[in-house]
Amino acid sequence: MRPDLKKISTGISGLDEMLNGGVPKKRICLVTGGPGVGKTILGLQFLVNGAHQNEKGLFVSLEEKPSHIIENALGFNWDFKKNYEEKVKFVDASPLQTLHDEIKIGEITIGSEQFSFATLVSVIKKEAYRIKPKRIVLDSLTALLFQFDNNFDRRRATLELFQCLNELDATCIVTSELRSYSPDRELQVEEYLAQGVILLATLPNGIRTVHIEKMRGTSHDLNTRPYQIGEKGIEVFPKETVTVPSRYL
Ligand SMILES: Nc1ncnc2c1ncn2[C@@H]1O[C@H](COP(=O)(O)OP(=O)(O)O)[C@@H](O)[C@H]1O
Ligand SMILES: [Mg+2]
Repeated sequence: MRPDLKKISTGISGLDEMLNGGVPKKRICLVTGGPGVGKTILGLQFLVNGAHQNEKGLFVSLEEKPSHIIENALGFNWDFKKNYEEKVKFVDASPLQTLHDEIKIGEITIGSEQFSFATLVSVIKKEAYRIKPKRIVLDSLTALLFQFDNNFDRRRATLELFQCLNELDATCIVTSELRSYSPDRELQVEEYLAQGVILLATLPNGIRTVHIEKMRGTSHDLNTRPYQIGEKGIEVFPKETVTVPSRYL
């Protein structure tokens, strides 16, 4: 491991163990997997853990309404309206998905034809300068990348967004939907561009698995481990092994 590389805890002790301490500080870690694997929950847990350490967090929601996310989080006893109100802020960027005539993100209203990644980037920058978060979650990138029909544009937009995040004084978790789990699948652009990639899956037998695909600058567990989603959120079992069909590796 690079001696100067600092880590920050994800809030999931088993995952921190797999990561030899946590995710690299001030870097972008991609959390990817199919629908329902717990990507949004992982992002929330990361912010809750930060709040407990007095670190501010920003949740940029590109998919679901923050009100729904906040409501669902009550299922884990995370009360963002009460306990974390001062520490964790939500930005509703979900209108970007359904391009209306006018889009309102935070305090900015724009015509949909004027929308570009640059708009999102400026909203994130503005909110980040205002709130000064140490942790940022962007959930999910896929909602945004849908509007591009080729990999060149997807790559350019992702690069722009990641550059913006890299300039901020925060550790970032970006989620994305994985289109395929096949071992010979084509890697998605965000997997190339993020400094770390955590892959979540639910096997056909219902077992949930976590695999660290890459984590630049540090050694980490190379095995696939099981996890559960319970009443305290995600729990990873870093000592247990799991047999994974090759199409999920
Ligand atoms: N309170 C809860 N207790 C246990 N599991 C839950 C609870 N709430 C949601 N889940 C599980 O988490 C899944 C949704 O997680 P989520 O983070 O929204 O997935 P993703 O963002 O990857 O689509 C649900 O499909 C369900 O299996
Ligand atoms: Mg989600």
